[in-house]
Amino acid sequence: MTIRFERVSKFFGDVAALDELDLSVSDGELLVLVGPSGCGKSTALRVLAGLEQPTSGRVLVSDRDITSLPPHRRDVAMVFQDLALYPHMTSRQNIGFGPRIRREPADEVRRRTEEVARQLGLDGLLDRYPDQLSGGQQQRVALARAMVRAPQAYLMDEPLSDLDVQLRLRARTEIVELHRSIGATTIYVTHDQAEAMTMGDRIAVLASGRLQQVGTPAQVYDEPANRFVAGFLGSPPMNLVPGGGVLGGEPDTVVGVRPEDISIAADRFPADGFRAEVALVESLGSETVLSVRCEDGTRLAVRTGPRSPYRANATIALSVDPGRRHIFDRDSGMRR
Ligand SMILES: Nc1ncnc2c1ncn2[C@@H]1O[C@H](COP(=O)(O)OP(=O)(O)OP(=O)(O)O)[C@@H](O)[C@H]1O
Ligand SMILES: [Mg+2]
Repeated sequence: MTIRFERVSKFFGDVAALDELDLSVSDGELLVLVGPSGCGKSTALRVLAGLEQPTSGRVLVSDRDITSLPPHRRDVAMVFQDLALYPHMTSRQNIGFGPRIRREPADEVRRRTEEVARQLGLDGLLDRYPDQLSGGQQQRVALARAMVRAPQAYLMDEPLSDLDVQLRLRARTEIVELHRSIGATTIYVTHDQAEAMTMGDRIAVLASGRLQQVGTPAQVYDEPANRFVAGFLGSPPMNLVPGGGVLGGEPDTVVGVRPEDISIAADRFPADGFRAEVALVESLGSETVLSVRCEDGTRLAVRTGPRSPYRANATIALSVDPGRRHIFDRDSGMRR
């Protein structure tokens, strides 16, 4: 099914949690909604699930206006940010709760519960209560509860936030693979830009309730529509420097360059180069991030390979391919 937000606004008092959101999700797509805390991600999902009534605008599912349809009549399953598992029920009962109250046949519910539990690595944990599970296991039970419904669409609100890094990477891959095999339209919410980059068919970046940009991860990373998107995706983030400084550009602009797009000259001083002093060396194993101070005081992050030979206080020569620069209007912040 397709999903469309049409100029959806949601005010809480005078806070605009969503400000004229226009967003379309195609059938079978996995769209990641990403943005900083408080930007309106959960509100967008809650409006879609029918848990929140928009102040204005419409929500369409497969071209049908569902804005005033009650939640139980919408064929979407939501995995909430705050789990909401029933504490007095085992994993098995939690997972099978929805199908049971819809009076589906008991052996069919059992079969599907066990199948989903296997897919999520919960086999041995079905008879435990939530307080006998780790945070990550609880999160997987919550995910299983949504999956067992086989709805038309999944709405996932930071379902992996309680997992440790290893499990999180695994669960991420599982969700993507699961999505591929089920093919249900999915909106996945996260504030983690790396998660957005790796999971989404497309990414929608939200800030202060406003949609900043939608595109494939490559489009949004390589051609950020504005300064906010430029600074939000990428780790370390894009260097953003006032125009006219070490990175060139007109004075009424802000010039951006990603840490991996700055070259360190090995021997000869490059024609368009500039000098900088290494202030800090952060070795991350597979890469090294140098924090450097340029002649004019500008600070830049420079990404380089593993086992970097550069040490603090060394002076190095840097250069930037002009084609790798991103130019933004100083006042509007829009890409030029
Ligand atoms: N019920 C409510 N009453 C008043 N304000 C609310 C309510 N729900 C959300 N807000 C406000 O709306 C804005 C968006 O909230 P929302 O929960 O959608 O953000 P979010 O992007 O999901 O953030 P997070 O990443 O922290 O979960 C915030 O400023 C929040 O304080
Ligand atoms: Mg939220």
